[in-house]
Amino acid sequence: MQSTLTPTEARPKAAATSSPLVEIDGLKVRFFTHDGVIDALEGVSLTIPQGKTLCIVGESGSGKSITGRAILNQVPRPGKVVEGNIRYHRRPGEAPVEITKLDPRGAQMRSIRGGEIGLISQEPMAALSPVHTIGNQMREAIRLHTKLGKKAADAHAVEMLAKVGIPRPAERLNNYAFEFSGGMRQRICIALALSASPRLLIADEPTTALDVTTQANIVDLLLGLQEELGISIVFITHDLGVVAEIADEIAVMYLGKIVEQGDSLSIFRNAKHPYTRALLRSIPTFTRERGGRLQTIRGMVPSPFERPAGCMFHPRCDAFMPGVCDRLVPWPVHPEPGRVVRCHLHADRGDIDRALGELS
Ligand SMILES: Nc1ncnc2c1ncn2[C@@H]1O[C@H](COP(=O)(O)OP(=O)(O)OP(=O)(O)O)[C@@H](O)[C@H]1O
Ligand code: SF4
Ligand SMILES: [Mg+2]
Repeated sequence: MQSTLTPTEARPKAAATSSPLVEIDGLKVRFFTHDGVIDALEGVSLTIPQGKTLCIVGESGSGKSITGRAILNQVPRPGKVVEGNIRYHRRPGEAPVEITKLDPRGAQMRSIRGGEIGLISQEPMAALSPVHTIGNQMREAIRLHTKLGKKAADAHAVEMLAKVGIPRPAERLNNYAFEFSGGMRQRICIALALSASPRLLIADEPTTALDVTTQANIVDLLLGLQEELGISIVFITHDLGVVAEIADEIAVMYLGKIVEQGDSLSIFRNAKHPYTRALLRSIPTFTRERGGRLQTIRGMVPSPFERPAGCMFHPRCDAFMPGVCDRLVPWPVHPEPGRVVRCHLHADRGDIDRALGELS
């Protein structure tokens, strides 16, 4: 069955507020490889609101996963955060914690990671141990991040497995990951990630490896849990059908930058950045059919070693303005309240002329 792709107009929220949970500001991540330096994140600025679902979309290589890993202070080697801030508002009334300044293996970061910020990824098997039962893994995670004793931790594990729809959860605690289907394993990862009651769940393409029906079930599960628990979710995906269904806010990434961020409904109705528009146009049927991956946009994503000057989207942009877009790096503009766009089409002409004047 197919229906027109429009985001849900008024999804009730358990504890949605407009105050930020995480504020990323000017984050730069570089990979120092044998072939040269790759600018994976080129100054990402992004706000993760409390109690809402933020979807990060963009073609492969745009920096979605690295953004998620940076929030967990887990940028993989040979990558390094070279600039910028990630401010995590840990407790109301207290100064935010600066994630990039914490030791990735230190006690504070280990308590935040897994305890307050959880991760689920594309491959549940990679997140689960093949040699320990599900019960052992859940018990360990719960005891690491809560003060629960052994019995209470077991009871909590059973409760969490039941919540994510594992039948006969008390019995299944004794099973190993390979004894479950792919969809069930992803449910277990969700239970594991949520068992310490995190405030933020980062879901990096959690449904990509699953069949279409299971994808739909997992998305529905996350949506239900998010509403029930009032947590924030950062959902990284290629699937704009899923985005339309679950996003409160959308951040669109291209080559290591957020090129547009705003409220989901207004972005679907009135995307401002040519890249966002191209993404929306590229959905073949423009339907709510799940599982459809993004189709190709004109031209190719440039190699990480050959970033175009000015606006990095300019070689592929239908609205390209010669002499402006290939010379000036777009700055953030606010064409309407709550919307940020990095594109000269929306910039003040006087500001563009001044910036061009400074170049010459
Ligand atoms: N281990 C690594 N070594 C070198 N470069 C890397 C590494 N991991 C990521 N990168 C670079 O960082 C950039 C962003 O990668 P990232 O994995 O965040 O993209 P993505 O948007 O998640 O893509 P996908 O949709 O394919 O998952 C890419 O250009 C990639 O070249
Ligand atoms: S700045 Fe220019 S090239 Fe870049 S998206 Fe806007 S119009 Fe297109
Ligand atoms: Mg990725």
